[in-house]
Amino acid sequence: MKFPIDKFQKLRTPFYYYDSELLRTTLNEIKKQIQKDPFVVHYALKANSNPEILRIIREAGIGADCVSGGEVEAALEAGIPASKIVFAGVGKTNWEIEVGLDNDIFCFNVESMPELEVINQLARERNKMAHIALRINPNVSAHTHHYITTGMNENKFGISLSDLDRVLDVTARQSNLKLIGIHFHIGSQINDMTAFQGLCLRVNEVRQYLLSRRITLEHINVGGGLGIDYEHPDAFPIADFKSYFDVFRRHLPLHDGQKLHFELGRSIVAQCGSLIARTLYVKEGSSRSFVILDAGFTELIRPALYQAYHKIENLSSELPPKEYDIVGPICESSDTFAKAYALNETKRGDLIALRSAGAYGEVMASQYNLRKLPKAYMD
Ligand SMILES: Cc1ncc(COP(=O)(O)O)c(C=O)c1O
Repeated sequence: MKFPIDKFQKLRTPFYYYDSELLRTTLNEIKKQIQKDPFVVHYALKANSNPEILRIIREAGIGADCVSGGEVEAALEAGIPASKIVFAGVGKTNWEIEVGLDNDIFCFNVESMPELEVINQLARERNKMAHIALRINPNVSAHTHHYITTGMNENKFGISLSDLDRVLDVTARQSNLKLIGIHFHIGSQINDMTAFQGLCLRVNEVRQYLLSRRITLEHINVGGGLGIDYEHPDAFPIADFKSYFDVFRRHLPLHDGQKLHFELGRSIVAQCGSLIARTLYVKEGSSRSFVILDAGFTELIRPALYQAYHKIENLSSELPPKEYDIVGPICESSDTFAKAYALNETKRGDLIALRSAGAYGEVMASQYNLRKLPKAYMD
């Protein structure tokens, strides 16, 4: 990626920088891949809800996948039509459900029996029919970091297969709920397509079982989870959407009139964003040297939270690389971006880019240590 370094020199660091052209190219690639199929993509706002990003996504005609009332409101404010909004989440509060009902969103992905009853009651008070999909925990391994697997029995998400029968009975008795679909999501940063293949097999089994109960559903939602290449953001700036959608084409043949929904987050926005920081100090020790940045886990928590790797580049130096531990200024040892990392020889004031930070970066920023939230710029 070519960074506008002259412009960066005038800005106060740390900040997020988004490349709108890469975002648009990514969205076009998705649209190209799905144009001949009854596939519907919803963007998972949890990955990044920056209003400029949402505007570009809305312009591309992509819908929204939300996990809170705040996200439903942000999607609506960005102009994404309510008819393209799905709302998941294991702990929806009454006001959040009301935001969805009052705006007639497309579908609630329901994760438990008590939630069914609450949505039904709130819909009844409004004299509305709430459209719902049951989020089923498919017990399929995503072969990814255990903090970001969601579709195993030990995870808190969704309705387990063994409870499905009972939940269907209860759903049928709710006067103000219309069951329109089933929903699944197995995890995030998945690059092994056999995991999605496993999901397809499970979806087929569930669909067969529903048919045996004479239930046919128009909408199947397989969640998100497609991974990106954190190690080579320049060589592979666009995720492998072709292989991903091919898996579903091949292994999940749709019945007449059926639509397949996807909730992609990371694969849409990760590569278009970088966190730009400045080097505060280089602390040369006898055993190791530290590059101390003005960004820490308050701006980008993924390395501290899930030992995630981000490629790091010194935008100001063309000197040969040296090995550094690259850390932030926060008073916690976990505030480390990388250990023994080969970075072009660095001095105070150098601009540093932490790449592939467009997803689960800015949205997870905090004000711990009373730090200021990072600004964001887009080109
Ligand atoms: C229900 C649901 N849908 C979609 C996503 C988006 O996943 P990703 O960013 O990996 O595409 C998530 C993320 O965890 C999720 O929990």
